[in-house]
Amino acid sequence: MVKAIRLHQTGGPEVLELEQVDVGDPGPGQARVRHSYIAVNFIDIYFRTGVYPLPLPNGLGSDAVGVVEAVGPGVTDIQVGDRVGYLIGPQGAYSEARVMPAEVLIPLPDGVSDRTAATLMMKGMTAQYLFRQVHPLNGGETILYHAAAGGVGLVACQWARAMGVTMIGTVSSDEKAEIAKANGCTHTIVTSRENIAQRVRELTDGKGVPVVYDSVGKDTLQASLDSLQPRGVLVSNGTSSGPVVIDTMQLAAKGSLWVTRPAMMHYIQPRAHMLAMADELFGHVLAGRIVSEPRQQFALADAREAHRALESRATTGATVLVP
Ligand SMILES: NC(=O)c1ccc[n+]([C@@H]2O[C@H](COP(=O)([O-])OP(=O)(O)OC[C@H]3O[C@@H](n4cnc5c(N)ncnc54)[C@H](OP(=O)(O)O)[C@@H]3O)[C@@H](O)[C@H]2O)c1
Repeated sequence: MVKAIRLHQTGGPEVLELEQVDVGDPGPGQARVRHSYIAVNFIDIYFRTGVYPLPLPNGLGSDAVGVVEAVGPGVTDIQVGDRVGYLIGPQGAYSEARVMPAEVLIPLPDGVSDRTAATLMMKGMTAQYLFRQVHPLNGGETILYHAAAGGVGLVACQWARAMGVTMIGTVSSDEKAEIAKANGCTHTIVTSRENIAQRVRELTDGKGVPVVYDSVGKDTLQASLDSLQPRGVLVSNGTSSGPVVIDTMQLAAKGSLWVTRPAMMHYIQPRAHMLAMADELFGHVLAGRIVSEPRQQFALADAREAHRALESRATTGATVLVP
């Protein structure tokens, strides 16, 4: 038996229950992973609240690192004792140990600690797919990136700097602005007192930006559209403030704009591609271009507190749970 957070109903952080669950042995194609760190992501809040439906009762979380302690029949490329991480697969990462499909496990390189990897599996791979696949950047561009001091945000700041991209990042406070800048964000817009689209025009000599990466959603949609150049691209990759509804006639009126709503699962397969994405991410880490440590740490039993902090915008960078 292991301790795990379970959901019996959707709702506020109080629906996260710590329980004893039977973890079992891995079957064909599976491996059992004992977690060292579990990452908390905003998507966990969508599942907890029911924005993304889950059959209940269920586990929660899709992002953790640890060591393989058993493998089932037919598993050849993962071995007992391997340090691994993952970011896709069934919900249930908020647990001391679990059985996972071996095909989603990513070996962690020597030189990247479990603690660092736990901040990067989902968040770093998201920066990879946003900047290198969804709307590939070449370097030299100026981009608008929302929630620049967040979990994905701080990795994105560093990745943009590594690529020679000028990032205009939005944040809700001066303290968050300093943190984003320290991680490579070139300009910050403090949303509590500045007009986003107006500041973007000022910073780009009136031209606007070719791409906006918008994970905030409802509250920033109009500012994002108003910040784009003609034929610019809105990458709507999250809805932290609420869902996005787009009137396509607005896209024409504002300059024949493009919109995409990407999901990781369509950019991470097959396995060889996922491993190549991870190689690129860890290459930046090993070269010192991306430095990442958790900025908030909670015990697994305190998952409710972790959710309260993330949801209330009290966090910066990555948040982890320790089993
Ligand atoms: N499409 C994908 O495949 C994919 C993959 C991973 C993550 N995501 C998305 O990327 C975003 C970032 O994820 P994360 O885990 O790293 O979270 P995060 O950025 O650490 O936290 C969300 C941030 O959004 C900002 N925000 C603005 N309005 C908010 C509101 N009403 N409520 C809460 N936060 C608000 C806050 O920053 P300020 O206080 O500075 O505004 C907050 O810190 C999420 O929207 C997530 O769903 C998408």
